[in-house]
Amino acid sequence: MTTTDDTSAQIKWVTQNHQLVPYADATISIMAPGLTFAALVFEGFRAYRNSTTDDLAIFRLDDHLKRLAYSLSVIEMDDPPSSEAVAADIMATMKANDFREDTYIRAQVYVDDWGSMTATGPVGSSVICRPRPRVANFETGQKFITSSWRRNTENASPSRIKASGNYLNSRLAGLDAKRQGAGGAVMLNEDGTVSEGPGGCLFLLRDGVFHTPDVISGILESITRDTILKIAPPLGIPMVERTVGRTELYLAEEAFYCGTGQEIMPITAFDGRPVGDGTPGALTRKLQSHYDDVVRGKSDQYSDWLTPVYGSAA
Ligand SMILES: Cc1ncc(COP(=O)(O)O)c(C=O)c1O
Repeated sequence: MTTTDDTSAQIKWVTQNHQLVPYADATISIMAPGLTFAALVFEGFRAYRNSTTDDLAIFRLDDHLKRLAYSLSVIEMDDPPSSEAVAADIMATMKANDFREDTYIRAQVYVDDWGSMTATGPVGSSVICRPRPRVANFETGQKFITSSWRRNTENASPSRIKASGNYLNSRLAGLDAKRQGAGGAVMLNEDGTVSEGPGGCLFLLRDGVFHTPDVISGILESITRDTILKIAPPLGIPMVERTVGRTELYLAEEAFYCGTGQEIMPITAFDGRPVGDGTPGALTRKLQSHYDDVVRGKSDQYSDWLTPVYGSAA
């Protein structure tokens, strides 16, 4: 096991096909198209310990469920679970495990049993939750490289859907970074413009404005990215979505990587060239802190984004 935050031993219950089962008893067929042909879509959510209620609250649950429904409509499956059914499974799984600390939740929908490449059923689903502390290097940041692998194209394996098949491309780029001793990778599109990293989106500061590749730049429509685009301007931090060129990586005054898992991860170098002075920038720090306030309910303005898990039982 090579993860730094391995908490899998704490998982007692998962949901499979809307039933709670012990983690060890949740299985799929070894010939399932979800495995053999990557006929699987998923979502990754985080539940945070709320600073005022002491409850856990899932961040932007409805927006993640909406993206799951979108991914399902593109990949095509028979009678997939509704958003309400997935939400109910998430709540049941959280409560069965009784997690009280920051938790990562993964919901998957896949084609099970034995089938061809175009099989659309039988459809299986699962939800798994595990405690997930903040990633290492959140304070110090990470060095990134530009991967030699190009990002999946919209007309080949669309990055806009959260399908397991897209993560082969991400894995190859991630392995590039690992081999070079870097913490992450930038993936370029076929035209050489910047897309995203293997599991998160990129922001670069230039002349006091953050720039992020737009939604036609081969990115997943990240909920963290969208959150930052909404919470930064009221703080006086301007944001622009546009096509970003590779050499802009080397001109950035600050940079960060973002996603549900990493939250806001400062980037301190691209391809061995320091970003700014090579340490996390002041505006990146400000955004990290404000994002944390938002996800933990310290900011009333964004309370609609929080769905309590235990409610009055907290
Ligand atoms: C490829 C990719 N891009 C971006 C993101 C960030 O998306 P979100 O902020 O919705 O977690 C992820 C997260 O898993 C991802 O896998």
